[in-house]
Amino acid sequence: MQTLLHLLQRKCSDAIVSAFEQLPKEEARAELTPSSQEEFGHYQCNSALRLSKSLKLSPRVVAQKIIDALDGIKDVCAKVEIAGPGFINFTIAPSFLSHELERQLKDPLLGAVREEKQRIVVDFSSPNIAKELHVGHLRSTIIGDCLCRLFEFLGHDVLRLNHVGDWGTQFGMLITYMKQFALDVLSGKEKTSLESLMGWYRAAKKQFDEDPAFQKHSKMEVVALQSGNPESMKAWKLICDVSRKGFQEIYDLLGVRIQERGESFYNPMLKTVVKELEEKGLVTISDGAKCIFLEGFKNREGMPLPLMIQKSDGGFNYDTTDMAAIWHRIFVEKADRVIVVTDNGQSLHFQMIYAAAEKAGWLDKNRMKAEHVGFGLVLGMDGKKFKTRSGDTEKLIDLIYGGIEEAKKILQEKMPEAPKKEIEHLAKVIGIDAIKYADLSCQRIKDYTFSYERMLRFEGNTAVFLLYAYVRISGIKRKIDADMKQVLAMNRLELAHPSEISLGLHLRRFGELLESVEKELLPNRLADYLYELAEKFNAFYRDCRIEGTSEEASRLILSELTARILKQGLEILGLETIDRM
Ligand code: ARG
Repeated sequence: MQTLLHLLQRKCSDAIVSAFEQLPKEEARAELTPSSQEEFGHYQCNSALRLSKSLKLSPRVVAQKIIDALDGIKDVCAKVEIAGPGFINFTIAPSFLSHELERQLKDPLLGAVREEKQRIVVDFSSPNIAKELHVGHLRSTIIGDCLCRLFEFLGHDVLRLNHVGDWGTQFGMLITYMKQFALDVLSGKEKTSLESLMGWYRAAKKQFDEDPAFQKHSKMEVVALQSGNPESMKAWKLICDVSRKGFQEIYDLLGVRIQERGESFYNPMLKTVVKELEEKGLVTISDGAKCIFLEGFKNREGMPLPLMIQKSDGGFNYDTTDMAAIWHRIFVEKADRVIVVTDNGQSLHFQMIYAAAEKAGWLDKNRMKAEHVGFGLVLGMDGKKFKTRSGDTEKLIDLIYGGIEEAKKILQEKMPEAPKKEIEHLAKVIGIDAIKYADLSCQRIKDYTFSYERMLRFEGNTAVFLLYAYVRISGIKRKIDADMKQVLAMNRLELAHPSEISLGLHLRRFGELLESVEKELLPNRLADYLYELAEKFNAFYRDCRIEGTSEEASRLILSELTARILKQGLEILGLETIDRM
């Protein structure tokens, strides 16, 4: 379904063309925006101001000529008015809006616009094997999953990639350490966990910094691993397997699907990639290392900052694997859009990777898009980087279980009569929804403060507030006990009350909203939209009686559409809904 914004844009553009035949085509495109104040209208066209210069007419005269040339606008709008210096305000007619919402209810995409299908690679979550997982990985997982869900809903072909850090010098240390202290694990006699691996990794790092002999062994172990020594490979695989299980537990809890394709996947391509970049003349030797210097990239001291694609000892690194990854995503995966979700700290790295890929002639910006989706830190209540009470970095899994526990306490208090099983189920949904929503509802570039207390509130812009609006609609339907299928088949939607119209218009904007999130990759826009939807529904419910009135059927239909869009929107955010609470 086309959005109302597009519909009016087309009508205005056509009107401009027919009113001012002398105008060049590129200038005839109309600009439309939703109005910021509903009392003046629902949409606004500002093109008369821009056009007045080249037409040498006053903006209000231009605006009037556009209005006179509008075709079939009476069916769509109840009012079209010129305001201020020459804005045109459009007020959608309730009858048209009612009809549009009926169509939207029948549309499987609920009014969203399906554009040309794209192949989109989303690299997200991407923790490092055996290293400490931090809340940043949780953010990447939640944000990345949400973007994938949106793209999938819009019909794109999405490849969800977990670019785990499964290669590199950390394995040298860890294997050397485990050879000393965890031989039974290495030999397969004893089982272990991600938690133990992380502990050993920490200890190994400490020993590496203090003990030269350990350092030497670790470096030899890295060489052995890179040359494919079977014993080292076996140890590496074991460590990866244990970590993988730990990660999977988190993904299962969060309901996140992702396919592992870690750094090691690109090993066989690294040499060729470096060679190709050399042949293209992009590589400069600097202190013995192979570097790519790119215009405009400087370090803190203002010195040119290169990508280093091969170290002086011949080893490859993070820059090399990411060059190989972008190459692979362009030429093998044939992506139309590549997105990597990591903290803001890596934004410069990806800008450089994309700039180098462009310079190499791989990345053609006219044909495809490569983007870095950055995000800020998670802060504790003290305003510092989030830590547990004991001062350790919080384990992700504990953080999630913590949310479920907190939700349970609140539910037990609010619903003392509810059976234990129901509380368990609700606590899991609400705890996880709350964590996800608290993250997604913040503008991702900014830091945000993690607080169970705040995220589990029943009022304000929280998951529970939205879930509650959904529960309320389920409750209304249960109470009236209407057969929704029949109601929808037998009745018409007729919006009349201002609260109905305001809610209806917001519902009809779902497509516009998703379109903007698809472009700008800001999930908080969707969160804000849903919050506003819940508020508008509550206002409608307060102002308009449903049960037993002559408008009962129409208002049930409006509630039904609200429920569906609420549920769909929450699903895109990765939130589960509940029917009672
Ligand atoms: N493993 C990295 C980290 O924990 C994130 C990887 C992101 N993806 C990539 N292609 N570099 O910071």
